[in-house]
Amino acid sequence: MRLMTIPPLQTNLFKNIYPDTPKTEGIKYAGSKLKLLPQILWLAAKTKPKTVFDGFSGSTRVSQALARVGYSVTSSDQAVWSETFARCYLQGGERAKYSLLIKHLNACKPVDGWFTEHYGGDPSGDVNNSSKVKKRPWQIQNTRKLDAIREEIDRLYLDPITEAVALTSLILALDKVDSTLGHFSSYLREWSPRSYKTMQLKLPLIIDTAMNHTVARSDIFDVASNADVDLAYLDPPYGSNNEKMPPSRVRYSAYYHVWTTICLNDRPQLFGKVHRRVDSKDDVAASVFEEFRRAPSGKFLAVDAIHRLLKATTAKHIILSYSSGGRATAAELNEALCDVGKIIEVIELDYRRNVMAAMTWTNEWLRDAQEPNREFLFLIKRF
Ligand SMILES: C[S@@+](CC[C@H](N)C(=O)[O-])C[C@H]1O[C@@H](n2cnc3c(N)ncnc32)[C@H](O)[C@@H]1O
Repeated sequence: MRLMTIPPLQTNLFKNIYPDTPKTEGIKYAGSKLKLLPQILWLAAKTKPKTVFDGFSGSTRVSQALARVGYSVTSSDQAVWSETFARCYLQGGERAKYSLLIKHLNACKPVDGWFTEHYGGDPSGDVNNSSKVKKRPWQIQNTRKLDAIREEIDRLYLDPITEAVALTSLILALDKVDSTLGHFSSYLREWSPRSYKTMQLKLPLIIDTAMNHTVARSDIFDVASNADVDLAYLDPPYGSNNEKMPPSRVRYSAYYHVWTTICLNDRPQLFGKVHRRVDSKDDVAASVFEEFRRAPSGKFLAVDAIHRLLKATTAKHIILSYSSGGRATAAELNEALCDVGKIIEVIELDYRRNVMAAMTWTNEWLRDAQEPNREFLFLIKRF
């Protein structure tokens, strides 16, 4: 199938429409909406909200941007790292008060510990022959720092927000010196150039506003109907429409298992070549949105979950992110959206679709193995 030609006039529309997109910070994260922040902020502004719920906050890029432009944000995700980032960025308060702590942590003397044993590799070893040196996400000069700093964070008995600032700073520093493709379900065969650098903790870009923000770690179905907000931004995992893709490949808990362990410092039981936490196994940590299977009814479980979520969300306006590579077809998604409200706007990354009739956008959501997936944003007003 061929994609429709996009009118050239619409290109880069959003760079002009939302020129003051605030600066945010975050780890490398599959599905991060960093590039869509201008579009999300533009859509959000149309609804003139005071309170916004970011229900799949992930890297917290969207929560940060929403907070920076002045909304009161409720940030929630089921992942422990996301809760840590949200506490740091949204609730940290005055940034300068953490300077001494970050300096103190940077000065910790490196030690060999649990993280070095399981995630540290020695670049002076022969990657192919040595049983000592396997593919690992970090070089030992950095895991030894990690071991020291993580122990020190526990030893200091910090309050939860200060601890979140320290952990966020530690994770961001590690993210800059990793030897991965951006996740931890496989590691690079050769050391990446950045992995030779020694990590350095920096003060996170904490947002110090007078506004109150709320942070939760929850399954979306436990919070969506209780979040008393004007606008909900929903960015569920898209799963995959590739029948051959094993489900573990698209699961956040499997991708980012090490961030969970760094946050919890719980020395979990590990399994497999990349030393994943046992509780990140597919049969333990599955999210229904990452499901690639069908229910006995024949309906995809992930598609059914999106429909249930839209119905459960009580906010008057909802912005839903979805990709043409996700489980739901355009027709299925359209049906779910139209069941709960009126579609006001549909945006494709960099292009605005003027939707007079809801089905217009579905014509442009075509699947072609040769074409990259396309990101869509839907603004709907609930009935
Ligand atoms: C596409 S990512 C969100 C990315 C985020 N908007 C950003 O910009 O970084 C999807 C997120 O959904 C979370 N997630 C998956 N299933 C969930 C569930 N049932 N409840 C809450 N969060 C869930 C994952 O942990 C992941 O962070």
